[in-house]
Amino acid sequence: MAVLVTGGTGFIGSHTCVELLEKGYDVVIIDNLYNSRQQVVDAIEKIAGRRPVFVKGDLLDEALLDEVFTKYDIDSVIHFAGLKAVGESVRLPENYYRNNIVTTLNLIDAMHRHNCTKIVFSSSATVYDAGEVSPLKETCRLGCTNPYGRTKLFIEEILRDVCVAHPEFTAILLRYFNPIGAHPAGLIGENPNGIPNNLLPYVTNVALGRLPQLNVFGNDYDTPDGTGVRDYIHVVDLARGHLNALDYAQTATGAQAFNLGTGNGTSVLEIVRAYEEENGVKIPVNIAPRRPGDNATTFADATRANEILGWHAEYDIRDMVRDSWNFAKITLANEEA
Ligand code: NAD
Ligand code: UFG
Repeated sequence: MAVLVTGGTGFIGSHTCVELLEKGYDVVIIDNLYNSRQQVVDAIEKIAGRRPVFVKGDLLDEALLDEVFTKYDIDSVIHFAGLKAVGESVRLPENYYRNNIVTTLNLIDAMHRHNCTKIVFSSSATVYDAGEVSPLKETCRLGCTNPYGRTKLFIEEILRDVCVAHPEFTAILLRYFNPIGAHPAGLIGENPNGIPNNLLPYVTNVALGRLPQLNVFGNDYDTPDGTGVRDYIHVVDLARGHLNALDYAQTATGAQAFNLGTGNGTSVLEIVRAYEEENGVKIPVNIAPRRPGDNATTFADATRANEILGWHAEYDIRDMVRDSWNFAKITLANEEA
């Protein structure tokens, strides 16, 4: 029996593979390495002390999926693979619909062909309607404003329909808030190509001296210091949430959504201050205009995940910024070696 982890060499997938292997699960990764590197498999093995099976391939390849399900005794799937850049999705919507939705349909079809009925899916807090007020509960209104978000919402709906048509099928929809940090070992973490879009990878690049300053997108929001507030969650906490979800999926029925967040909001300037104080580095900031599409405040009500999955976040902001910087230093040292 093995868990198939799609996108398992990516940021969240790699941390989840470590947790799975440490708990004794056998793990099969399928990833096309579009946004990750094969060396991550070695890093996972180094941390967990066991090696996952790695299959380099694309979820658009249905024959490959059949091979994987036939060769390995897959009894559940954690589905991370996908494209995730909001701005890019506006420019290249077809790529996002094909790579996120068609791939998921292929995966569901393969699961049906091989009698696999449990899936945990990477959804996002972005599925909540922008008009909803935090703390966001799973019962809040849904609605998206960009193609990336719509792929998440559509996949949630597809999985709901699949669960109705196939009552033996269970889908756990995990709505992540803002995952940051890295494994404390410093061997896996977030490593985006090019200039980062997200706050923490950008801050890290400033700390490394690769970028001159952080542009803070707006300081006139209706928040305590005027900068945007988000629910940052340590990626190891998030990864652990997938094990709780997988456990729950064994007995649960239907499609069920859970927020994975801490329930706390932190502003951009609070993140910068914590990063500087915890790591002894300087992050120069420049107050820039608001970024289109951003809202003032987003944070989770994570009560449902706590009550039903028995999960709660354990790491705080200091842990998150420390582990981000630790990974950056070790990665930089490796890149320069
Ligand atoms: P990531 O880009 O680091 O990992 C995704 C992995 O999927 C990559 O390794 C990539 O190579 C692989 N992949 C993409 N398309 C593929 C395909 N067609 N076939 C095989 N492999 C493919 O991203 P992440 O941050 O680890 O995110 C994982 C999931 O969580 C994504 O679905 C993302 O949308 C979702 N999510 C992420 C965040 C976040 O802020 N990181 C927030 C909410 C939801
Ligand atoms: N920010 C800056 N400067 C930067 C980058 C970000 O000030 O260079 C600010 C943003 O304005 C926002 C906060 O930092 O207030 C967080 O921004 P991120 O881009 O890191 O994250 P978002 O909350 O915008 O989006 C993230 C994921 C999305 C996902 C969403 C779900 O990137 O994929 O969370 O809530 F959909």
